[in-house]
Amino acid sequence: MDDLDTGLQQKVAVVTGAARGIGEAISRRLASMGMTVILLARDRERLRAVLAGIEDLGGKAEVHPCDLRDERAVEGLASHLRQKQARCDVLVNCAAIGLTGKPLHEMSVAEWDDLMATNLRGPFLMIRALAPLMIERRGGHIINISSLAGRNPSPNGAAYSASKWGLNGLTYSLAEELRKDNIRVSVVAPGSVNTGFGGKGDPGEFKSEAWKLQPDDVADVVEMLVRQPAQSFVSEVLLRPTRKP
Ligand SMILES: NC(=O)c1ccc[n+]([C@@H]2O[C@H](COP(=O)([O-])OP(=O)(O)OC[C@H]3O[C@@H](n4cnc5c(N)ncnc54)[C@H](OP(=O)(O)O)[C@@H]3O)[C@@H](O)[C@H]2O)c1
Repeated sequence: MDDLDTGLQQKVAVVTGAARGIGEAISRRLASMGMTVILLARDRERLRAVLAGIEDLGGKAEVHPCDLRDERAVEGLASHLRQKQARCDVLVNCAAIGLTGKPLHEMSVAEWDDLMATNLRGPFLMIRALAPLMIERRGGHIINISSLAGRNPSPNGAAYSASKWGLNGLTYSLAEELRKDNIRVSVVAPGSVNTGFGGKGDPGEFKSEAWKLQPDDVADVVEMLVRQPAQSFVSEVLLRPTRKP
């Protein structure tokens, strides 16, 4: 059985949404643990900046610009990984968009499709592409970043909320499918995190709020999940800010 507590230097992690926010923090953390981290998002320049930060600290990473809505691009990543690394030990599905702020009946069909393609179909495509590599090596972690909006009603965020409820259901079922292959599939559901989520994407342009969780708080949970001993499987973590707004 593959023990993730040993040989982290040989391990490969793939993180979607690595260009900023929570995905960036998770990428930095996994690299600091010794893994080679494949950084995925659309913004090549932001990914390069994250890579530079990781390399400055002696970590290993690789930039892989990819639009998760594009099935071929995701399959291309899987072929590249298979040829170059021949393994994928950790997959963190973190990328998402959040079109909130309007009632469901005012949302266009195109907005709905875009949100579901990113938040729910994207993780499906990633799992479809990378789970076979894990199954072949008889081990791995798949960690899906959901939200407390996937457990609670979210007025003016119904589609986002539905995508995260869907991601939870996908996670619970997939976990049972892959247990026999020694693959642990977990979901992490944070409350409000201090990122520019829902904004234009520039990390410098959001209003920082001290009561919120920090991206590193989510990275702490991901590190804990990846470091679990082989016999232990934390399947779900709800992560709340201690204070309310
Ligand atoms: N922030 C919160 O309060 C909060 C709370 C609970 C849960 N979450 C969840 O945490 C996760 C990360 O959120 P965050 O706050 O870090 O958001 P963020 O700062 O907006 O980052 C989102 C990331 O997703 C990437 N992305 C978006 N669409 C993509 C696509 N089509 N293909 C590839 N990458 C794409 C973005 O990069 P590009 O734009 O370059 O592609 C970016 O790296 C999400 O799943 C979110 O639902 C966030």
